[in-house]
Amino acid sequence: MTILVTGAAGFIGFHTCKKLLEENHTVIGIDNLNDYYDVNLKQARLEQLKKFEHFSFQKLDIADRKQVEDLFEQHNIRQVIHLAAQAGVRYSLKNPHCYIEANIQGFFHILEACKQYKVAHFIYASSSSVYGANTQQPFSEKLITDHPLSLYAATKKTNELMAHSYASLYQLPCTGLRFFTVYGPWGRPDMALFVFTEAILKGKPIDLFNHGEMLRDFTYIDDAVDAVVQSLKHPATFDFTWSGECPNPGTSYAPYRIYNIGNGKPMPLIRYIEAIEKACGKKAILNPLPIQAGDLQSTAADISLAMRDLSYSPKIDIETGVQHFVEWYKGYYRT
Ligand SMILES: NC(=O)c1ccc[n+]([C@@H]2O[C@H](COP(=O)([O-])OP(=O)(O)OC[C@H]3O[C@@H](n4cnc5c(N)ncnc54)[C@H](O)[C@@H]3O)[C@@H](O)[C@H]2O)c1
Repeated sequence: MTILVTGAAGFIGFHTCKKLLEENHTVIGIDNLNDYYDVNLKQARLEQLKKFEHFSFQKLDIADRKQVEDLFEQHNIRQVIHLAAQAGVRYSLKNPHCYIEANIQGFFHILEACKQYKVAHFIYASSSSVYGANTQQPFSEKLITDHPLSLYAATKKTNELMAHSYASLYQLPCTGLRFFTVYGPWGRPDMALFVFTEAILKGKPIDLFNHGEMLRDFTYIDDAVDAVVQSLKHPATFDFTWSGECPNPGTSYAPYRIYNIGNGKPMPLIRYIEAIEKACGKKAILNPLPIQAGDLQSTAADISLAMRDLSYSPKIDIETGVQHFVEWYKGYYRT
């Protein structure tokens, strides 16, 4: 059974491919290797994956319809894990166009190909950012998510709606995973852990937005990948208890599911920084600043649905996870 992983050179895509390959699956990875962040890091991740016999890679832009159609034409793809996207909330204020190209146009090309080639299950990355202006925490999949605070969040919400329409029209099983701040080795250079570690090790100040008054549900990469792999084993099914009288947004009469993938233990940003300081053996220099446009002040995940349906059970605490990252960072950059 061939599994397509889009965004294979990305942070979550790389770890997902690695886990699937270790479990002896045949994996096709695609990525356009764009330069949103260090392309060498993406290449280095791919080098790790190319060591596996059952891995093949194609450099491909999902915004290009023909390239996507050819890919599905040439391979017998049975399951799709769609992680390719333009990530990042803040960058969506600077360069909104690429979010529409990758996250809307690109998503549509993959979804349409899944329908056309009768893929057994379409799993895709959504985001905690869809909770937007909701303040009722922890965030449950039952909450309405109609008030995004950024274009990035709006594209992820749009993905969920597009997936539902295909689940309903064509009975394509669709599972959307709302990731909550995933971190760990081989992580993204634009994310807090990477930026903070680099700054602490170089003795540079850290910009502390909202004066550090942020709460995040930091999710270790291995836990997030477990959720993805578990989703493969549990394709979305029809929910016969769903009612249009009182519609539950997280499920449907169609084969459609949404799951929060978080750690379930939200933590103040300052504790995260303390864990990085401990792992680096150095104190941070803090530069308190106001909150940035588009940012959510707090994200806390209700993970009970994923625990029930996917046997999801996050295992790695923040100190251990941060320690793993800092060890990887020091080794990779020979710091
Ligand atoms: N990391 C997190 O904390 C987090 C949180 C919520 C949601 N997500 C979502 O999870 C997914 C993976 O995130 P990540 O952290 O691994 O990000 P990432 O940027 O490391 O990975 C995304 C990959 O997609 C590729 N890509 C982008 N546009 C493409 C295109 N048009 N064609 C082909 N490839 C393209 C990029 O080159 C990149 O390698 C994304 O959909 C992201 O929005 C991540």
